[in-house]
Amino acid sequence: MTSRPLERSDIRDDFDCGDPSFNDFLRRYAGQNQFRNYVGVTYVAIDERHAVRAYATVSASSLDLSGLPEEDRRGLPDYPLPVLRLARLAVDLRHQGLGLGRALVRDLMLLALEQRRRVGCVGLLVDALATRVSFYEQLGFVALDTVSGGPNSRTRYRALFLSTRKIERATGA
Ligand SMILES: CC(C)(COP(=O)(O)OP(=O)(O)OC[C@H]1O[C@@H](n2cnc3c(N)ncnc32)[C@H](O)[C@@H]1OP(=O)(O)O)[C@@H](O)C(=O)NCCC(=O)NCCS
Repeated sequence: MTSRPLERSDIRDDFDCGDPSFNDFLRRYAGQNQFRNYVGVTYVAIDERHAVRAYATVSASSLDLSGLPEEDRRGLPDYPLPVLRLARLAVDLRHQGLGLGRALVRDLMLLALEQRRRVGCVGLLVDALATRVSFYEQLGFVALDTVSGGPNSRTRYRALFLSTRKIERATGA
């Protein structure tokens, strides 16, 4: 299944990934972020009714590479560099475990390479729920030292990074 940017008419109401905050984001905020405020784009995999089965929200961002392994920093300047940031990824419960989440991340790896060619991009940065770190590590991401979400935050996120150099080597694109 291929993904494409969310369209206004896509059906979002019955999406349920099991996490209310991810469901709520798709229903209430993904559209306004993309169509009105231009702060992020949500890529979706849809079914034949154009109902969303899986989504991933990305935006352009920048990253201070000092927390990265030496091989990812080699030869790069030491000021914040452009990255593609994956802020949210979710798959509907009825379609989890079928490879959709992994396929969406693979699409975003190719998007990071396209961004690299067009405007510059050194990698894909993910804010992952701490319990989902292994999902991204399987795809080649490395965990950064940074943990977002303060001591009072209910959910702790972990930042992970995959360089466009590694994506290029892995995909041959
Ligand atoms: C996490 C999530 C996106 C995975 O999507 P998915 O389509 O079910 O995953 P896939 O079928 O592509 O699985 C790819 C691999 O990741 C593994 N995986 C799936 N869910 C995982 C999880 N929650 N934690 C760790 N690994 C997981 C699978 O076992 C599979 O590995 P395998 O091929 O070796 O068996 C999905 O379960 C989801 O939407 N969960 C609720 C919202 C959420 O947690 N979002 C992520 C926030 S960072």
